[in-house]
Amino acid sequence: MRYGEIIQFEPIESVIQLREADAEPEAKHLVETFVISDRMAEQLTDLVFPQLQFDMPADNKGLMVVGNYGTGKSHLMAIISAVAEHGDLAPLLSNSTVASAADVIAGRFKVLRYEIGSTTMMLRDIVCGELEEQLAELGVTYAFPSADQVSNNKDAFHEMMAEFEKAHPNQGLLFVLDELLDYLRSRRNQELVLDLGFLREIGEVCKTTRFRFMSGVQESLFDSPSFQFVAESLRRVKDRFEQVRIAREDVAYVVAQRLLKKSAEPPVQVPIDQAGAKLAAEARAPWCELPRRRARSPAVTARGAGANRHTDLTTGPRKRLPRHTGRCLDRPPRLTEAPSCTRTFSFR
Ligand SMILES: Nc1ncnc2c1ncn2[C@@H]1O[C@H](COP(=O)(O)OP(=O)(O)O)[C@@H](O)[C@H]1O
Ligand SMILES: [Mg+2]
Repeated sequence: MRYGEIIQFEPIESVIQLREADAEPEAKHLVETFVISDRMAEQLTDLVFPQLQFDMPADNKGLMVVGNYGTGKSHLMAIISAVAEHGDLAPLLSNSTVASAADVIAGRFKVLRYEIGSTTMMLRDIVCGELEEQLAELGVTYAFPSADQVSNNKDAFHEMMAEFEKAHPNQGLLFVLDELLDYLRSRRNQELVLDLGFLREIGEVCKTTRFRFMSGVQESLFDSPSFQFVAESLRRVKDRFEQVRIAREDVAYVVAQRLLKKSAEPPVQVPIDQAGAKLAAEARAPWCELPRRRARSPAVTARGAGANRHTDLTTGPRKRLPRHTGRCLDRPPRLTEAPSCTRTFSFR
């Protein structure tokens, strides 16, 4: 027996790269480990899936996943896109209501994922270039006209989708773009106006085709004072996008559920000798007290956007947990069958 057998622990190691979900085994792992708070379950069933589906006519829009750094945007987009791409992953979602609500999108999409790096290219050129390249791998040949030859982009998207539907008649096309805000922050006035105009057009195309677009931003693009000088362009983008917000309570829930899976069952009483008690005391801090106290304390979760080390799942005390626990989990508890056993230790 090892401590690992009586404690469930799934370490949070680092940030997720969206494109990890391109590989199906990794996508499966991401789906299985994704913790779903009630609030997130509601957003998925009432907002995300209805927006993505294309069976029922609806006012489909683009989706923006909004949250601070390290709060789970990429993981969320990875699991949504993984389920959209591989129908058999839907039942692996940890919430059964969400899993069955996902039916409307499960396996119904071809998915293209991209992370914007530091670049001076126009958003249009980035998206269209990536679409051309990744669609070719799906057997769809389409070349977007250059920006100076067209008066709008929507016609080109309709043509592209007509080609796509010839090759994949029953499927939708989901394009997932990560790290959008960092990119937009680097853009100058006129460039930004053009980028936002293109985003709006993408949002509009979702209504009339099976093309769907989802993107992740570190803070609400629409509320950011640094973009106020393009307020009118932003307002028009906002009309064509729905926001999926990752709130502090979602992060707190992930910590409680993922780092230390709380069990409804009574604690396991393990008889231990004195040496075992020492190890248990050592183990107790990272396993039991720290995550639960941090998760519950409003003081910690409400310190504001600046205090990322407490609202972010990848740094601060939580980042250090795996080192302690990883070391302890492999050790056998020092169990003693002797009646002289002096202490018991409760694992929850
Ligand atoms: N709901 C969740 N369930 C399980 N793990 C999560 C969840 N949200 C975030 N994480 C974990 O937290 C870390 C940071 O998430 P990530 O998606 O990379 O954040 P962001 O893209 O917002 O910077 C990752 O290790 C991720 O697996
Ligand atoms: Mg990310």
